[in-house]
Amino acid sequence: AAPKPLAGRRAVVTSGPTHEPIDPVRYIANRSSGKQGHAVAAALAALGADVTLISGPVTLADPPGVRVVRVETAAEMLAASLAAVQTPAGPADIAVCAAAVADWRVATAAGDKVKKGPDGPPTLALAENPDILATLSQPGPRRPRLVVGFAAETRDVLTYAAAKLAKKGCDWIVANDVATGTGTFGGDDNQVHLLRRDAAPEAWPRLSKTAVAQRLAQAIADTFDPSATA
Ligand code: PMT
Repeated sequence: AAPKPLAGRRAVVTSGPTHEPIDPVRYIANRSSGKQGHAVAAALAALGADVTLISGPVTLADPPGVRVVRVETAAEMLAASLAAVQTPAGPADIAVCAAAVADWRVATAAGDKVKKGPDGPPTLALAENPDILATLSQPGPRRPRLVVGFAAETRDVLTYAAAKLAKKGCDWIVANDVATGTGTFGGDDNQVHLLRRDAAPEAWPRLSKTAVAQRLAQAIADTFDPSATA
């Protein structure tokens, strides 16, 4: 049988976009398909981890062997993530935030459909959403031992990713280029750098999202049990 180096470890993975309502029929969103995050959840489960996947609205099938919690907004994703990392036995061991969480929501979503009127287009006032990765990274009883974020950038990828690693308080950042033409959002493959604290960034070759996820899951397993690949 395949080795299960993460058996007995609990992991929480976020994936997909969030939808932030404008009114009952419209929302603000982004181009995330959930392919990368769902692949990470599947890869951690394949190594034996007990995985809870917190997914924004996607059209993907649930990965096998994974508990899936479906949410719509960033606020719901935060609440579900906090509930999932807090298990009766203590914090989850691993958190991987691959979701493309909307940074802003509409401050006050309308209760009824916004209608066209004589005053021209409406103005949307935005409010900042909670940062799930930063919240899970905070020191304290809820903090998973290893917290991994992603950084989606369209330029200066490594510089911005290093800044996010410092600012958000997570342990690792997986940096990917999402500039127009890369196909990272929605596509089947990805080219990433893995940034760990106090180490040089590791450039990974262009791989399928499944292979990126498997390599990341193996790197995670190695930190919990360095003998796993011996
Ligand atoms: O879903 P796919 O189509 O497969 O595309 C994959 C992906 C490009 C979405 C994925 O690989 C990726 O990069 N996910 C993170 C996207 C993102 O929102 O990055 P960011 O640089 O804006 O955020 C940095 C980190 O903070 C991320 O781990 C993000 O999940 C987290 N975050 C951001 C804002 C927020 N309010 N809460 C968060 O937890």
